[in-house]
Amino acid sequence: MTTNDIRTKFLDFFKSKNHSIIASDSLVPKDDPTVLFTTAGMQQFKPQFLGHIDGFTRAATCQKCLRTDDLDVVGQTDFHHTFFEMLGNFSFGDYFKKDAIHWAWEFLTGELKLPKEKLWVSVYQEDTEAYGIWANEIKVPKERIVKLGDKSNFWPSNARLNGPNGPCGPCSEIFFDYGINPNCPKAHACDPDCSCGRFSEVWNLVFTQFNRKEGGVLEPLPAKNIDTGMGLERLAAVVQGKKTNYEIDLFMPIREAISSNKILVSVSGKEDLVIADHIRAIVFAIADGVIPSNKERGSVVRKLINKSANLILNRTNIKKPCLYKLAPSVIETMKKEYPELESKKEEIMTYIRKTEEAFILVCEKYAPEFRQQIEKAKNNEERGELYFEFYDTYGLPITTMIDTVENAGLRITSQDHEESFKYFTKLLEEQKKRSRAGSKMTGDVFTDAGIKLDVPKTEFLGYNDLEADGVVLKFLNESCKVKIVLNRTPFYAASGGQVGDT
Ligand code: SER
Repeated sequence: MTTNDIRTKFLDFFKSKNHSIIASDSLVPKDDPTVLFTTAGMQQFKPQFLGHIDGFTRAATCQKCLRTDDLDVVGQTDFHHTFFEMLGNFSFGDYFKKDAIHWAWEFLTGELKLPKEKLWVSVYQEDTEAYGIWANEIKVPKERIVKLGDKSNFWPSNARLNGPNGPCGPCSEIFFDYGINPNCPKAHACDPDCSCGRFSEVWNLVFTQFNRKEGGVLEPLPAKNIDTGMGLERLAAVVQGKKTNYEIDLFMPIREAISSNKILVSVSGKEDLVIADHIRAIVFAIADGVIPSNKERGSVVRKLINKSANLILNRTNIKKPCLYKLAPSVIETMKKEYPELESKKEEIMTYIRKTEEAFILVCEKYAPEFRQQIEKAKNNEERGELYFEFYDTYGLPITTMIDTVENAGLRITSQDHEESFKYFTKLLEEQKKRSRAGSKMTGDVFTDAGIKLDVPKTEFLGYNDLEADGVVLKFLNESCKVKIVLNRTPFYAASGGQVGDT
């Protein structure tokens, strides 16, 4: 079964359970200044989770997601990605635990025909209701049901203790068992809480039943919600009998494009996995309007391009852009589901190529300058400051700086090197803190800034009309600027990374 087939099967299944099938939101969340990127399927439904119901109370999606908190483990594990697709079904005060659990099981074992004995589940340690449904109704043997705590089985993770405030709840996860890992120290006692790779977490069912208040008080919500998320690539690996996501049909054409490229062929091992992952994120982010730059979202895309370009440069020492040549392999594989990729192909390739060229120039120009200056530095702090300056201001990769210090015959003891590097890390941390504090993007999952207008949704007329009469529903006065909210408008709003009408 292809990954495309699995996606279709999922949406058809939930359509048959009376869910509205909603298109994926952009990777740049609409009207939501609290997050950089869309990281989960529930994000586009925050208003519904907060009680603003707009026509439907059941929905299912396949959502494009981009997560950068796992960046360092991408390529190191079989299952982590920056860009991935998340299948999800949602209930806004409609069905709850019983249906969510029964349908998840029916889909995996009935539609996809996964062997029941290969599936394990976890429940939140205090959630006797979910435990009872799995044990007594679905009849999962008790030895394959594990009870876990706040970190693994509450969503957002650890929200009870650390926040954010807002809707949250226990969750229940479904795992596929790939069989005992002979290298796992726990061997037969290994369970889904172990990270040895035996278990792949495929589906997270969140039972959003509380509203967390300041101080960690959990108030029951009047309307209970369901928010599920299943990584499409992980599920495809399981269904296609592959041990890693990188072997599924969506990844193989990209990996073939790498191995058949004269320059890239020498980038192998885990590095080609990192590149295969990053190029998908880069292509999709640019298609959704994120232009590589040194600010916020753009800087994430630039970082992914530079990191990939650096892997290529380190491995091949060829100072020519070539990452951009992989973009067509991503577009070919994904264009059926995401036709916008094809129409933006030239633009996507040009942005990647230009960013690579700039990166190569930085390495050529600044590496020799860095070498000269670091040689002259008087102490470890001065060296740390130089690391920081060349990294932060000029974008010189850390690996290039380390190589310069270690391999360019500089007379710096390894202890001094370590100390100056520690000082650099401290400066970097301080800078990250400053930029977090200066950013509006708090990362709180359910901060509802900007959506408490208490007016009906504006009707968009722009597909058919360029002029219209409307009623002003609200004035918002922000110092000397005034914003108005209309009941209907032909003006397209700046959303989804696109430019708004003027
Ligand atoms: N919001 C949950 C997650 O991201 C389930 O969709 O895992």
